Amino acid sequence: MTEINLQATLLDQTIDSPFLNASGVHCQTQEELDDLAQTKNLGALVTKSATLQVREGNPNPRYYDLPAGSINSMGLPNLGYEFYLDYVTKADKKPTILSVAALSAADAITLLKKIQASDYEGPTELNLSCPNIVGEPQLAYDFENTDKVLAEVFSFYTKPLGVKLPPYFDLVHFDKISAVLNKYPLTHVNTINSVGNGLWVDIETEQVVTKAKGGFGGVGGAMVLPTALANVRALRQRLNPSIKIMGTGGVTTGADAFAHILCGAELVSVGTQVIKEGLGAYDRLTAELKEIMAAKGYTSLSDFRGKLKEL
Ligand code: SIN
Repeated sequence: MTEINLQATLLDQTIDSPFLNASGVHCQTQEELDDLAQTKNLGALVTKSATLQVREGNPNPRYYDLPAGSINSMGLPNLGYEFYLDYVTKADKKPTILSVAALSAADAITLLKKIQASDYEGPTELNLSCPNIVGEPQLAYDFENTDKVLAEVFSFYTKPLGVKLPPYFDLVHFDKISAVLNKYPLTHVNTINSVGNGLWVDIETEQVVTKAKGGFGGVGGAMVLPTALANVRALRQRLNPSIKIMGTGGVTTGADAFAHILCGAELVSVGTQVIKEGLGAYDRLTAELKEIMAAKGYTSLSDFRGKLKEL
């Protein structure tokens, strides 16, 4: 049988699998990160989005399983950037992406100055899209401010940098964010973060299901797949080819990963499904993806990446 090769690239590094963990899932503690480093069929690991200071995150309950996905209001619980920066600087088992989140534009600059001054040379991802911080908007919905922050960042930052985006829902917004992002030497965009400020209602108790923000939280899992695919596709059509796309959102099967790659994703992250199923999900997704490729006669991801056909 012809060998199926799932190799992908992260910067100029060849990795054996296109699968990543979605930031936030099983990547907060040393132990969780070490688990990811040992996980077969995971091409690279992404840290929990780190902030300048350690954060407890939002009060519990802050994650709730839904039949077709999940809703969360985690509020960026993390051990602070110093821990994650140290982890990725020393990591030697698997390629890593350092995710950082800023609570303000000033924080973003401070964080990236610290990374610039450090020994870490690997990829960093600036999360511009957390929907769960009380009183703070998702920066990437403000095109002008995103432009200002990136202009300041790239006045001093010379290491590999990507951004994590929220989902967009209007073609004009895809044009606008792409026009901003194309001005900068970004390595990648990661799309999508959860669909912000959804609400779930427990009709038994007549209550919301997460505590912070009156129950409003980020929605993920199967139900966001069409939104995720649209964002991967629309951004791939608009961004400079040098800006790679990491597709995140709604992946529960190998077919979903295939669809992300067909829309143009270089790598594919899995979040909610790993919470539901555990790290073994990557083996199943890999087997399913290979099965689809074999049935179609594809032997590498580049055989179909970005080749979605229109009617
Ligand atoms: C969170 O910690 O609230 C989720 C992370 C994110 O949405 O960026």
